[in-house]
Amino acid sequence: MGVEAKIAPSMLSSDFANLASEAQRMLHSGADWLHMDIMALCPKSYNWCSSYREAYLDCHLMVTNPLAYVEPFGKAGASGFTFHVEVSKDNWQELVENIKAKGMRPGVALKPGTPIEEVYPLVEGNNPVEMVLVMTVEPGFGGQKFMPETMDKVRALRKKYPSLDIEVDGGLGPSTIDAAASAGANCIVAGSSVFGAPEPAHVIKLMRKSVEDAQQ
Ligand code: DX5
Ligand code: ZN
Repeated sequence: MGVEAKIAPSMLSSDFANLASEAQRMLHSGADWLHMDIMALCPKSYNWCSSYREAYLDCHLMVTNPLAYVEPFGKAGASGFTFHVEVSKDNWQELVENIKAKGMRPGVALKPGTPIEEVYPLVEGNNPVEMVLVMTVEPGFGGQKFMPETMDKVRALRKKYPSLDIEVDGGLGPSTIDAAASAGANCIVAGSSVFGAPEPAHVIKLMRKSVEDAQQ
């Protein structure tokens, strides 16, 4: 039994003046999740979450104090709450407990330069995270080039944890999806390749097929 494909367009690449219709456009194009990059304390992003309770909101917190965001994002209706391991070495247990208590799915992200071993305790603990996000570019902005060397981390994770949700984020699109899917990634974040496509539905479908083929 393989893991399920989840295609998550990154709202960072959407037209910010029309967030609501951009979200609808992605959901109608076959998106499973909406990926939201949270970079600074911005009350508007909570409000936006609240108005999208029908979609799975895959929130990626690129902030230095994720604990401060758990309560507001929980209230706002976030579905997944993914924090970075680099800033959570001392309090990840407390973070995971709080995220679950607010009804969200905890995930842990790591930057390209962070060794994969750093997330193992979070996957194996009594109160484990439910997803690992392997960054395939340096976090910050969309439109960067996919780093193929990060696939070693995805392969190591998939070998160790056959049923774990493994997400990749950065530079994913038709030309890089096969590398990520064959390494074992099943949750695919894609910003510019989806929003910039004449037919986002086509790109989403192609990426889903790549993940499904690799899972067989
Ligand atoms: C990068 C963000 C990504 C970004 C991906 O820091 O975490 O979610 O939006 O954009 P693309 O797919 O254009 O690389
Ligand atoms: Zn992201």
